Amino acid sequence: MELITPRAVRLFNEFVFDSVMKRLELYKKQEHIPENDRRQDMFYFLCKSQNPSTGRPAYTEDELRAEATLLIIAGSDTTTASLASIFWYLVRAPRCYRKLVDELQKTFKTAEDVIYGQKLTLCTYLRACIDEGMRLVPPGPCEPPREVLAGGLNVLNDHYPKGTIVGTAPWCDSLNVDVYGDPGVFRPERWIVDEVAGVTKDMVAEIRTNFHPFLTGPGSCAGKNIALAEILLVVARTLLRFDLRKTPGSTLGEGSPELGWGERDKEQFQVVDAYISVKQGPEVQFRKRSFPETKLD
Ligand code: HEM
Repeated sequence: MELITPRAVRLFNEFVFDSVMKRLELYKKQEHIPENDRRQDMFYFLCKSQNPSTGRPAYTEDELRAEATLLIIAGSDTTTASLASIFWYLVRAPRCYRKLVDELQKTFKTAEDVIYGQKLTLCTYLRACIDEGMRLVPPGPCEPPREVLAGGLNVLNDHYPKGTIVGTAPWCDSLNVDVYGDPGVFRPERWIVDEVAGVTKDMVAEIRTNFHPFLTGPGSCAGKNIALAEILLVVARTLLRFDLRKTPGSTLGEGSPELGWGERDKEQFQVVDAYISVKQGPEVQFRKRSFPETKLD
């Protein structure tokens, strides 16, 4: 098995093995210090959890490694796909970029003031840019398969018997022209009720109902809150600390006419479906903000 495992997978497995070993050593070392002084990350709670019927640890070391593998993949490639998409579109949409920076600069004095809390979550344009970035590139683009249980399932007028594998692809939902009208356009305003601008409560409710980057129900993302917190913090702090622009001449991530069907739109950030969206780009230049502010030309 070792011989046919691709090198990248082998390196990843070694990385997980190593990280889990080091983290377990720390967990054991800290067993005798007050609980509040211990490192209380996700792994801590996995190590600490007990099987209620036996009172013994809920996970073996192998199971902890399996959990770590899931958490590392589920928690990193997804969030970076979202960030890549948000920045890819923002550096190509100067009006949206300026509006977002204005909101952030009105709300926070410096990047260091940005902490997770109400002040950040109430930045409506920031949240709208994040939703729009995740809509245009859902980090999990294909349909997650679900098996219909005993009794079957009725969807609209169709019946799906027990055992049928069903699913809907966030990629198709996100680009549904009947729901979004202009699905290929990065337009954060579509997420904000503004009757004067013609965006009604019902319109926002309709697109929200259609939008499930983390899925819903029992099989949905276990890390939704931490993912959103990470993305809000990274986008806000980055834009307060740096002025950004697309690297002049860079086309990385763009569609192009000579590419295949579905990859030709220059205005669309291209990703490959590998269950998680695999991306290239964006290429972005950063300039540290100074006061009084200098802007990139
Ligand atoms: C933008 C970021 C993220 C998105 C869009 C996302 C999306 C998803 C989706 C669609 C699923 C369901 C996959 C399936 O059923 O096949 C899922 C599952 C999961 N996610 Fe996330 N995720 C994100 C970030 C994170 C983070 C940061 C963590 C943890 C640190 C995380 C942990 C998990 C776990 C543990 C599962 C499996 C849940 C289960 O099977 O019960 N995710 N995620």
